[in-house]
Amino acid sequence: MKVKVGVIGLGFMGSAHARVYSKLDECELVGICDSNPEKKQLAKTYNCKFFEDSEEFLGENFDAVSVCTPTSMHRDVVIEALEKGKHVLVEKPFADTIRNGEEMTRKAAKMDRLLAVGYIERFNSAVSKLRELVDFSQIYSTVSMRFGPFPPRTKYSGVFLDLASHEIDILNYLTGTAPEVLYSHFSSRSNNNFEDYAYISLKYGHMHSHIEASWLPNYKLRLIHLYGNKRFYTLNYAQQKLKSYRAPPEAKIEHGSWDDILWLSRHVEEDIPVSASEPLLMELQCFVDSVKKHDVLPPLCNTQEALQVLEVAESAFSKS
Ligand SMILES: NC(=O)c1ccc[n+]([C@@H]2O[C@H](COP(=O)([O-])OP(=O)(O)OC[C@H]3O[C@@H](n4cnc5c(N)ncnc54)[C@H](O)[C@@H]3O)[C@@H](O)[C@H]2O)c1
Repeated sequence: MKVKVGVIGLGFMGSAHARVYSKLDECELVGICDSNPEKKQLAKTYNCKFFEDSEEFLGENFDAVSVCTPTSMHRDVVIEALEKGKHVLVEKPFADTIRNGEEMTRKAAKMDRLLAVGYIERFNSAVSKLRELVDFSQIYSTVSMRFGPFPPRTKYSGVFLDLASHEIDILNYLTGTAPEVLYSHFSSRSNNNFEDYAYISLKYGHMHSHIEASWLPNYKLRLIHLYGNKRFYTLNYAQQKLKSYRAPPEAKIEHGSWDDILWLSRHVEEDIPVSASEPLLMELQCFVDSVKKHDVLPPLCNTQEALQVLEVAESAFSKS
């Protein structure tokens, strides 16, 4: 039987959820909702009902909903959806505060409904390949960069929760641990209420991770470099590309002469094949499968994992 779904909040992300659900064979997009009536035309595109009022929308007969409202509205909308008996996929970041995240988590348990968080990079094919190939006990340091111009949306949180939180979730997911915050720095050069630049340094056991996120550049970059003693990896999230660098096979690495070291500069660069696919499609397919099995299936981010990201955020803000 098809899973009946709805989407609330039809901005940049919600309209993408509606598009993807309308293409998935195993689900039926029943209705979409936005407090802005100008979004009504999307219902024609996706052949479903439009609602301006969330109460009326959530009173409809469907199983699950994507909550894509601004982050500051996640708590209210998610609680309302859970109380109406819907399974929920809420966009990242889970919440603006840990307290709100914990409240939603308790409500989902009480209502026996699924609650998952849309950390989409878990479904990036280059990340899946990296996870398959790399032994994280051999990685000593990582550098992540998430840059892009200011998003044209309501400003409800700063660049840290908006962009850097993706990197924290991915590092937690890849290492299977939660980090200690060593250092953090936030600044706002654009006179916004929120930071537009964030730097954070984290310790994952033996691995040291540096994350920089900024809304100041006029270009978009989503990169992570991973350094180990035998290999160096570079992953480009936006292009779903993964490269590795290593010494040429004949190189003497220990006690080498200057000639050996010159030889090492002819490092071997390899493009690791990745079959690119649309991460949102994989994520929503996984959510629909989760609803069918009544269990949040990996790699979909569950509430405990999403709360860990908020704990890191809280610790980083308290140290800055
Ligand atoms: N996974 C990702 O990579 C990714 C990318 C972008 C945004 N997001 C997340 O998606 C969420 C939305 O971001 P966006 O860029 O789409 O924002 P947006 O401002 O483009 O869209 C938000 C929409 O929600 C509507 N809305 C606000 N309050 C509402 C309410 N109470 N009921 C119904 N509709 C309401 C607004 O009218 C607007 O159309 C945020 O949590 C953001 O962090 C995730």
